[in-house]
Amino acid sequence: MSDSRVIVALDYPEAGPALALAGRLDPARVRVKVGKELFTAAGPRVVEDLSSLGFEVFLDLKYHDIPNTVAGACRAAAELGVWMVNVHALGGRRMLEAAREAVAASRRPPRLIAVTVLTSLDAGDLQALGFSEGPEALVLRLAKLTADCGLDGVVCSPREIAPLRLALPSPFALVTPGIRPGGGSTGDQKRVLGAREALALGASYLVIGRPITGATDPMEALAAIEAEITPEAT
Ligand code: C5P
Repeated sequence: MSDSRVIVALDYPEAGPALALAGRLDPARVRVKVGKELFTAAGPRVVEDLSSLGFEVFLDLKYHDIPNTVAGACRAAAELGVWMVNVHALGGRRMLEAAREAVAASRRPPRLIAVTVLTSLDAGDLQALGFSEGPEALVLRLAKLTADCGLDGVVCSPREIAPLRLALPSPFALVTPGIRPGGGSTGDQKRVLGAREALALGASYLVIGRPITGATDPMEALAAIEAEITPEAT
């Protein structure tokens, strides 16, 4: 169990290094995220192993399929005992509602959030896909749909935190990747943000990968982020 707002993205090609890093982390201080790479390579076993170490796991598999299939996948994720799972909002209302119902019917319902628009898509990409709205408007539309379908939150980029928080007050969760220690001072405020600034804008959880996993001393990197969030902790 953890009260932390930090979710460490365990983006590794196999279970070994993911579990090695997890073994050095404190489940009271962080949660962990298992994404497509690690899950595809290592399977549900790595989720069970992380849970056995005491971690709450965000299973980041971004389900996007017909409602029946996504409901089944969400049910399986709930059975695995994950803390949070996600789907693509572009699966539409019936898929979102089927996912929510599947999760709600499970013994220990995980939090269920949605991805709105992939941050890799720009206005031109969306136009080519037939969307008339730009990314900002589409993100807002899909986040509102997600809330309307009774899900717990969305994944959003740092630049989306403020407008989404305005439109969707807490407890709707905003889970934000793209966090870089001291990110606000890098001059690229659009794509990355410091941990403290993201929380001040209204982010609920911060997904942090390489700044921790790629650091020479991952524990020191995490401690620096924690100090940024809670200055009195140091
Ligand atoms: O290493 P880094 O801190 O950039 O890791 C961010 C994590 O957030 C990665 O696991 C990536 O898959 C995830 N992510 C996401 N949605 C985005 C951008 C990144 O889930 N729009």
